Amino acid sequence: MPDTSALQSASCEDWPGIIRAYADLLPVTDQTPIVTLREGDTPLIGSEHIGPSLPGNIRLFFKFEGVNPTGSFKDRGMTMAVSKAKERGVGITMCASTGNTSAAAAAYSARAGMECIVLIPQGKIAFGKLSQALIHGARTVQVDGNFDDCLRIVREITDSYPIELVNSLNPMRMEGQKTAAFEVCDQLGHPPDIHILPVGNAGNITAYWWGYLQYREVGRIDRLPKMIGFQAAGAAPLVHGEPVRQPETIATAIRIGDPARWDDAMSAMTDSGGLVDMVTDEQILEAYQLLAAREGVFAEPASATSVAGLLKLAANGYFDDRPVTVVCTLTGHGLKDPDTAVNMLQKPDIIPARTEALVELLGL
Ligand code: F0G
Repeated sequence: MPDTSALQSASCEDWPGIIRAYADLLPVTDQTPIVTLREGDTPLIGSEHIGPSLPGNIRLFFKFEGVNPTGSFKDRGMTMAVSKAKERGVGITMCASTGNTSAAAAAYSARAGMECIVLIPQGKIAFGKLSQALIHGARTVQVDGNFDDCLRIVREITDSYPIELVNSLNPMRMEGQKTAAFEVCDQLGHPPDIHILPVGNAGNITAYWWGYLQYREVGRIDRLPKMIGFQAAGAAPLVHGEPVRQPETIATAIRIGDPARWDDAMSAMTDSGGLVDMVTDEQILEAYQLLAAREGVFAEPASATSVAGLLKLAANGYFDDRPVTVVCTLTGHGLKDPDTAVNMLQKPDIIPARTEALVELLGL
């Protein structure tokens, strides 16, 4: 007889998704209907170029969240948020998004048989992300405003109607996302010394911190990393200590002026002995290209913010000669936003369909 208990491992030997993998550390029971696309178990990729080229004694790893089912870390939070909503019999989910949350909400809601409504800032989300919301059948609405405007409307609607808010204000999103910290510890065999993340709405850095704290509490690690957050210079409210009314950056995923998890993220960074800082769009694009061209890892611009931040810290003498393990989370896949790559690089040459033309072009 097949075992139908929801918390039993799935019928094949594959990775079962983050809820089943970490069920003992998550608020689920065997009554929870698990809505999963087998998210998580993402690679921790050792740096071959960037780490060794930095001053100091840095062992650098990239936690590549771009290989999650919808191409970003949001899948970890969404499997929890949608599963718990389904458990309570909710039929509709809703979120504001700079693109990745809407992609994940749309996909997991589709899988759960729920309706999904997403609000996005008009003309300011990457094309791949828009295609995901649409193809997964979410009711997609563009707002003539920024992410902060979208989130305000979503909060008002979900306060008044029986619709589940699935932004990171939803505590279940945080529960799911903290599993990335568990995985990093499991993969390294210990916690990193420093963990660097891009910060937008400030949920993810908070979730990682809570994950590390919980892992220490249950005795699976015995120390905690410093949490370091980087924002884009044009959208850096945490650095300035006040909301930014007109946030602007090429890294549209983190084009946010008034983060919902502001206080939690600041506590994570301060309590851990870390810091918050910012990098310019030029520094972001430089790191974005370096990651792809020298490490073979194509992450979206917002993701490269963590690496741009590491480069800035290293250039400013943050690291001494003591050996340190540093993890940079690469939050989303580069294919989400092909326009940024194509627009910043030289267009491919065009030749007639003759071999000699190629020989001539390449100077062989
Ligand atoms: N990186 C990427 C690729 C993101 O999509 C986001 C957030 C972040 C970093 C920042 O994470 O908000 O938890 O501080 N994207 C949200 C969205 C806002 O709507 O997709 P955060």
